[in-house]
Amino acid sequence: MRPTLAAAGRGRILFGGDYNPEQWPEETWQDDVRLMKDARVNSVTLGVFSWSKLEPEPGAREFGWLDRLMDLMHEGGIGVVLATPTASPPPWMGRLHPDTLPRDADGRTEVWGGRQHFSHSSATYRRYAAAITEDLAARYGTHPALTMWHINNEYCTFDYGDEAAAAFRRWLREKYRTLDALNSAWGTAFWSQGYDTWDGILPPRHAHYLKNPAQVLDFRRFTSDMLLECFTAERDIVRRHTPHTPVTSNFMPLWIGQDAWRWAEQEDVVSVDLYPDPRDPLGGQRGALVQDLTRSQARGPWMLMEQAAGPVNWRGVNHPKSRGLNRLWSLQAVARGADAVCYFQWRQSRQGAEKFHSGMVSHAGEHGRTYQEVRQLGHELARIGSSVTGSQIVSDVAILHDWHSWWAGAHEGRLSAEVDLPEVLTAWHRALWEAHLATDFAHPEHDLSGYRLVVVPQLYLLTDAAVDNLLRYVHGGGTLVCGFLTGVADEDDRVRPGGMDARLRELFGIRTLHEWWPLEAGETVECEGFRGTLWSEEIEAEPGVARTVPYRGGELDGLPAVLHNGRAWYVSTLPEPEALRELLASVAEGAGVRPVLAGLPDGVEAVRRGELLFLLNHGREPVTVEVPGDHRELLGGEKVTGSLTLGRYGVAVLRS
Ligand code: GLA
Repeated sequence: MRPTLAAAGRGRILFGGDYNPEQWPEETWQDDVRLMKDARVNSVTLGVFSWSKLEPEPGAREFGWLDRLMDLMHEGGIGVVLATPTASPPPWMGRLHPDTLPRDADGRTEVWGGRQHFSHSSATYRRYAAAITEDLAARYGTHPALTMWHINNEYCTFDYGDEAAAAFRRWLREKYRTLDALNSAWGTAFWSQGYDTWDGILPPRHAHYLKNPAQVLDFRRFTSDMLLECFTAERDIVRRHTPHTPVTSNFMPLWIGQDAWRWAEQEDVVSVDLYPDPRDPLGGQRGALVQDLTRSQARGPWMLMEQAAGPVNWRGVNHPKSRGLNRLWSLQAVARGADAVCYFQWRQSRQGAEKFHSGMVSHAGEHGRTYQEVRQLGHELARIGSSVTGSQIVSDVAILHDWHSWWAGAHEGRLSAEVDLPEVLTAWHRALWEAHLATDFAHPEHDLSGYRLVVVPQLYLLTDAAVDNLLRYVHGGGTLVCGFLTGVADEDDRVRPGGMDARLRELFGIRTLHEWWPLEAGETVECEGFRGTLWSEEIEAEPGVARTVPYRGGELDGLPAVLHNGRAWYVSTLPEPEALRELLASVAEGAGVRPVLAGLPDGVEAVRRGELLFLLNHGREPVTVEVPGDHRELLGGEKVTGSLTLGRYGVAVLRS
């Protein structure tokens, strides 16, 4: 049994954030501890970007400052998530060992002066990373403040350089064994690309025109695997020293570079960084999507490793959070399964690239609104921690998502650059979120038998095993709704005969898929009872098999926009939000799926976690919510009978 988040939290919600005290004089540290205790901070992540401080020259070790901090945290009753500093090598490394620096597809070297300038394939980088990890684990493995290991930070680099090219060839030989197999999988007969030697194969570097899609797909797979190797190498070192301490590495939300299903299986704790735009009217739902995805990867409680207490500094225009929004989105994460609510970062920096990125303690200091709201939240989380942690969320609906399909579908030679998978996923998740249906995510090859409804926004690439799985699911009594461009390609990104897997066509009652008709940005297509966006398809239904909702007017007049064959649905366009919500709500009802709570006002989110019912008002106006029966509200302690009013961004946590 691997250790879990519970080992670090011990019945409390972990609350705190990245702490970069090396940026501050030591006098500030005492003040930090005072404020942390005042805000009920119980966890800090130390050392994420401390490599040059720890190893100022090759092989040197400067642990004194970290020793003092570990002790200080322990004395303050604050646990430490200790990071390996390997996301930002010191300048000397790139200077002395240029082989540690990655190269982009155009051959440009990424140098020090920013961060993440390491080549995942560099033997030198890996040697230095292993050495510092080993020494950190040996020194702090038995320190009483240590609660968790945080490996690297947001693994996200690509490398097209020579050492990566050699590693790519090794990876391909392992996968294909023979050049014939590779040539066949990559379709190299097209444009005279046949390989006669492994040495002739390169990463998909800058080329005159469109690159081979199967080569690009394999390079994405390879990159995810190489980064994962970097992670597991460090993970195994810390595990050797501390087998009972959980290990994590933080994901970026819905980030294209890592196959997060595979990665999550290698972590003890799944953690994510989440920064919805405070000005985005869909910010709450976008957050919910990432929270549902992360919980599903964790198969239980997960860690919100980073969020912002105020503005970030990497959008075009960066807005602070309105009063109450930080609390709302933090409690939303808890409602959706988080047992840790943390931030980037504790104290806002005065120097460096992120000095305008918020911290829990902003430039305004302890009397500033940001810290005051953080403090209030810390007290509230402490109040509900023991009632919440460890408890599960039960969902009858699963959305399927797969990184390999995303990678293949994103190739530059696709039919429409308007189709962006994260936006398609968001549209379908939004429909379920607004219909108050509890939703998990799953991989297309996962066991789906526990779900009453499975929704596929888009799986352009489906392996044979995934197609088998979907058929087994429907034949076993499940209800399936698939969006457009699903089942088009096999796992080598070879288009399936007929443009969609034949067994899926049969399942939906599609005789012929004549043409894909993508729509321009903002263009809509009339369908009976609603408008479609983004995409449409010229489909001929199998006569007498499926019931259909037709397109109206235009090229596709009378042809099916939606096909419905028994428990299998196919939606060949992206219905406008209200229409998609109504469609999914009615299919869900037919499949026996009930909303979390009936009759909720617009903008109110309801989530059941364990015994508790969370109600969250995403609006700025007060709303009254009917909650039949008697309850106790845990944040404020009041009794609630029959109904309650939630103020602007208000949250209630009810126990019946
Ligand atoms: C990421 C990183 C942090 C910080 C934040 C800023 O999540 O992990 O180090 O740069 O972004 O939003």
